[in-house]
Amino acid sequence: MPNTKPLALVTGASSGIGETFARRLARDGYRLILVARRRDRLDALASELGEVEVLPADLATDEGLTIVEERILRSADLDLLVNNAGFGTMGRFFEIPVASQDRMHRLHVLATVRLTHAALVGMVPRGKGGIINVSSVAGFGQNPGSVSYCATKTWMNSFTEGLDIELKTARSPVKVQALCPGFTVTEFQDVLGMDRGRIPDRLWLKAEYVVNESLKGLARGRLFVVPGRAYKLLVALQRWTPRSLRVAATVRFWRPVKSL
Ligand SMILES: NC(=O)c1ccc[n+]([C@@H]2O[C@H](COP(=O)([O-])OP(=O)(O)OC[C@H]3O[C@@H](n4cnc5c(N)ncnc54)[C@H](OP(=O)(O)O)[C@@H]3O)[C@@H](O)[C@H]2O)c1
Repeated sequence: MPNTKPLALVTGASSGIGETFARRLARDGYRLILVARRRDRLDALASELGEVEVLPADLATDEGLTIVEERILRSADLDLLVNNAGFGTMGRFFEIPVASQDRMHRLHVLATVRLTHAALVGMVPRGKGGIINVSSVAGFGQNPGSVSYCATKTWMNSFTEGLDIELKTARSPVKVQALCPGFTVTEFQDVLGMDRGRIPDRLWLKAEYVVNESLKGLARGRLFVVPGRAYKLLVALQRWTPRSLRVAATVRFWRPVKSL
């Protein structure tokens, strides 16, 4: 008997927002394929959640990306892809090693392109499925000290919006979403080496809330999901403030953030 439970693949499922997606989707009755580099974390999650396939891969490498891409191409029934794996860096672009920026573009841009393509070539003919690209509020502007991060997340927003338009012109019911959270308590800040104390408490989001907003938004066909009122306001302000004013204010007030 074929398994009738829906199937989801989540990248970056070993911690934070990805792990939270995995837990929530398991509760919602999904079978899961979980991707990240830390196999021990994925194994622990799999033994807790049940119907889980663990797929350890470094998505910033050709080899790792090909493993996951081929797995998606082989699954005739993928219902949901969550392109979530990501990381930030701190420091001016011209002062930090280019290798980290190269890896970031491979992970946020190239992996998203390849995995999304692999998923859509099956989903569109089947007339069913969804893709969530975990972007950021950083994708609505620019910020000195995280130029590549903002640029890759801006790309994610644009890419997802373009896909949404294409899918609609093809009369496809397949849904895409750019999930754009603000500061969310995860290991992201530890990887970045950022002091959480410099961000006011009221701006911190919980991963469970972010995931809930995302899935609610997907059910309603929302293209951009910005969880939390404060961040919705921030995005609106950024949209409506003239670029010249934004740049002038940033140049006047920006100070480098000290890493931990
Ligand atoms: N937390 C925030 O404040 C925030 C805000 C806006 C957007 N986001 C976005 O949310 C997404 C998830 O981040 P998070 O906050 O949950 O951070 P996190 O807890 O550090 O999780 C990042 C995940 O990505 C995986 N990953 C990193 N590099 C990878 C690679 N080369 N190949 C495969 N997997 C990789 C990590 O697993 P391994 O280390 O095991 O590979 C981990 O599972 C990211 O795209 C991030 O940009 C986060």
